[in-house]
Formats: sequence, structure tokens, C-alpha cells
Amino acid sequence: MANSGPVLFFDSGLGGLTVLREARYLLPCEALLYVADDAAFPIGRWPEADLTAHILSLFDDLVARYRPRAVVVACNTAFTLAGAALRKAHPDVPFVGTVPAIKPAAERTASGLISVLATPGTVRRTYTRSLIESFAGQCHVRLVGSDGLAELAERHLRGEAVADDALLGEIRDCFVEWDGRRTDIVVLACTHYPLLANRFRAIAPWPVDWLDPAEAIARQLVRVLGEGRAEARSHQPDKAVFTSRPQDPVLERLLAGFGLVLEGQ
Ligand code: DGL
Repeated sequence: MANSGPVLFFDSGLGGLTVLREARYLLPCEALLYVADDAAFPIGRWPEADLTAHILSLFDDLVARYRPRAVVVACNTAFTLAGAALRKAHPDVPFVGTVPAIKPAAERTASGLISVLATPGTVRRTYTRSLIESFAGQCHVRLVGSDGLAELAERHLRGEAVADDALLGEIRDCFVEWDGRRTDIVVLACTHYPLLANRFRAIAPWPVDWLDPAEAIARQLVRVLGEGRAEARSHQPDKAVFTSRPQDPVLERLLAGFGLVLEGQ
């Protein structure tokens, strides 16, 4: 491993925490660093060229500053757009990506009707379309781009009230009935959405499998670290860096629940 810093998890906001918590179960000794580009949140509606340039420039700083031993891009919107460019820009850093779990969904569906719930950006990506062509040609795949769910997920995690109707309005299009069959799998293709999975289960028009890729991403990280895994726990607390540099006691408490200390506090 070229670098000796922490494993860096990146997302635009709090969604990547759903991946970090799975990684911590599998790698309890590893030093983790969570980076949220909350100054840019939500990134689901950013134009592609602007977002690519922004992510590449941010990672130039992050890699120089923290020398991560590996990076988990815990964000579909960022990775489906800039994953290849990030790997090219930082050939010494192993990158683990997050992409819509279309392949496992196609392998598991019984009805052949799958929905992919994602940000508008992820739904538009060539990357997402080619996953469908490569792995789900025999399925009917409904792409549902949500404008507001990432923000609703953040509000829910912060303990603010989020109405069932608001959530149902965002997920309703995932439920398709066709030729006597019904959607049986919804791919959660934004790392924020597993934060709402219990709410989705309670309001869904019928039961479906809500596919969260977090555990599979954490397992991929274990494979990538290989022999380079940490053997002993360091005594330093794991940090979280937020690009807007917030002074926010609620955020501090919330991050403490994920074993993270907000940098700069
Ligand atoms: N969590 C991010 C993802 O997985 C996106 C959230 C946002 O819109 O910024 O796509």
C-alpha cells in the first residue's frame, strides 16, 4: 500500500455513513476518515462537467492532505461519473466504488420487474445504462430519479419530522404492475436511502426487497486492503470532515453514534 493514512470514505453528505458502519464491523482496527462535501450537497442535480471538475479538484487536496491507504467513494452520484477519472488521477490509491446494484437485483428477482431508486444524476449516467444492458437485459428495469430523497434522509437522520406522504411521493413510481407481475426488488442506488429503509417498508404499496449494497462494498474494501489491513486499533479517534465547516451540536452527536469526531470542534 503506497500510503499509510486512514481509509477515507467520501460522500456529499451523511449517506456514506451507511457504508462506513458496515466497514467498521468488518475492519474494527482500521483507522477511518469520513469526508462529507456538504458544501456541495445535494450533488444529484449538478451538471456533469462541473461535478467532475469539482470532485477531481477536491480529491487532489484530500489525497495530498490525508494520504489515504484506500478510498471508498460511498456515493453513486459521484462514482458513476468520476470514478474512472479519480483512478486515473491517483494511480497509487486503491479506490472502492459504489454503483447501482443492478447485477445482484437481476440475479435475485423472481418477477423480472426491478426498480432503481437514485438521484437524477445517477439515473442519467451512461454508467447506469450500461449496467442495465450488461446485466439486466432479461428484466424490465424502471429508473426512478428522486429530487428530494437525499435531503429528506438527512432530515430523518437528524431527528426532524418527515411525513409519510412526502416519502411516498418519491418512491411511488418504483412500484410497477405489469402483465400480472409486480416489482419485487428496489435497488437503493443512493447511499442516503438506506437511512429511510424502515420508513419505506412501512409505507410501500406492497412488500419488496430493498437492496442496500453497503455490506458488499465493505467486503470489497476488505479484499482491496488484503494483507495491508490494520492489526491493532490506534488510540486516535476516527474523524469526520465536513467541507462547510459546520458548528452543529446535533451533527456532532449524530456522528458520535457512528464513532466519529467532527474535525475542527
Ligand atoms: N449519497 C449520494 C449517492 O449515493 C447522493 C446524495 C446527493 O444528492 O448529494 O448518490
